[in-house]
Amino acid sequence: MRNKSQCLSFSFLFFFFFFFFLFSCHQSQAQPSTTGYTCSANQTTYPCRTYAFYRASAPDFLDLASIADLFSVSGRMISEPSNISSPSSPLIQNQPLFVPITCSCNTLNPSHTISFANLSYTIKSGDTFYSVSTNNYQNLTTYQSVEVVNPGFVPTKLEVGDVFIFPVFCKCPDQTQLRNRVNYLVSYVLQPSENLSSVASRFGIETQAIIDVNGNNIRPFDTLFVPVARLPELKQPAVAPSAPPSRKTERKGVITGLSIGLGICGASLVLVLVAGVGIICSFKHINLFSD
Ligand SMILES: *[C@@H]1O[C@H](CO)[C@@H](O)[C@H](O)[C@H]1NC(C)=O
Ligand SMILES: *[C@@H]1O[C@H](CO)[C@@H](O)[C@H](O)[C@H]1NC(C)=O
Ligand SMILES: *[C@@H]1O[C@H](CO)[C@@H](O)[C@H](O)[C@H]1NC(C)=O
Ligand SMILES: *[C@@H]1O[C@H](CO)[C@@H](O)[C@H](O)[C@H]1NC(C)=O
Ligand SMILES: *[C@@H]1O[C@H](CO)[C@@H](O)[C@H](O)[C@H]1NC(C)=O
Repeated sequence: MRNKSQCLSFSFLFFFFFFFFLFSCHQSQAQPSTTGYTCSANQTTYPCRTYAFYRASAPDFLDLASIADLFSVSGRMISEPSNISSPSSPLIQNQPLFVPITCSCNTLNPSHTISFANLSYTIKSGDTFYSVSTNNYQNLTTYQSVEVVNPGFVPTKLEVGDVFIFPVFCKCPDQTQLRNRVNYLVSYVLQPSENLSSVASRFGIETQAIIDVNGNNIRPFDTLFVPVARLPELKQPAVAPSAPPSRKTERKGVITGLSIGLGICGASLVLVLVAGVGIICSFKHINLFSD
């Protein structure tokens, strides 16, 4: 009798651990989003107007007109939220800007919806999905996501003048966030020189508020969503600071992420094996004693 209930609880534990770790393995793979961010379960707040944080950058994006063109808005729509008094004067390298975007929930197939701003981009000479995502849109989207939303195109055969959708990552606040006075989730690409607390202080919020929305596993050049009640006032710089991007940090992050993922999955495999052996043992016990 006692052995039978022991066996039962063993099998229960086995299945518990099995599914628990199956689930967490799946989660850890799904974490960094390269193809796009799923819409929140309750989509009543889509579409919404939100903002992307953009840094003016040489050679092509040192004036409001070309940045406005890239995002299909007008120069004034950028200069007003960005505290720029003379929209026609040139910008300086890394000058911070808030670019308005319209964020919508897009159905790719019945089980997959992703949240992005649908921007049209006309291919110029030398462009690739990768170069436009990383240089023009500054990693506010990824080439993987561009491929997902433009199915049926061969990304290596782009013709000058072709028009593609570039899905700029965004999110709309859900009902709970709106109740907590989170009116915008600003799309922001983390730079190698930054960390979550420096981003939080730039927006005048707590670091934990960023972690609550984005988790803690954010690597340089990932897009994160900064929850704010209103946009902070940008202090437009007098001198251009420069932050050389570092590939090293990024690769180290990927390797760390990979080894953590492998570690979790490995540990769960061991646990499942141990639990399985436990069950077999308990079955053997029952047979021995009942004979
Ligand atoms: C979505 O939000 C609305 C408004 O708060 C609520 O009435 C509805 O029940 C929610 N639906 C789901 C599936 O959570
Ligand atoms: C994106 O916008 C274009 C028009 O600007 C429209 O034809 C297309 O269907 C939209 N795509 C999605 C996925 O919303
Ligand atoms: C975008 O990310 C890539 C690495 O994924 C990096 O090399 C590139 O410098 C980034 N672009 C910008 C504008 O920061
Ligand atoms: C975050 O970055 C700032 C400078 O940008 C630095 O002063 C601070 O020590 C960093 N904090 C952590 C926890 O790394
Ligand atoms: C706008 O930028 C100027 C510097 O260009 C700064 O002195 C001023 O405080 C800013 N205004 C606001 C409202 O942030």
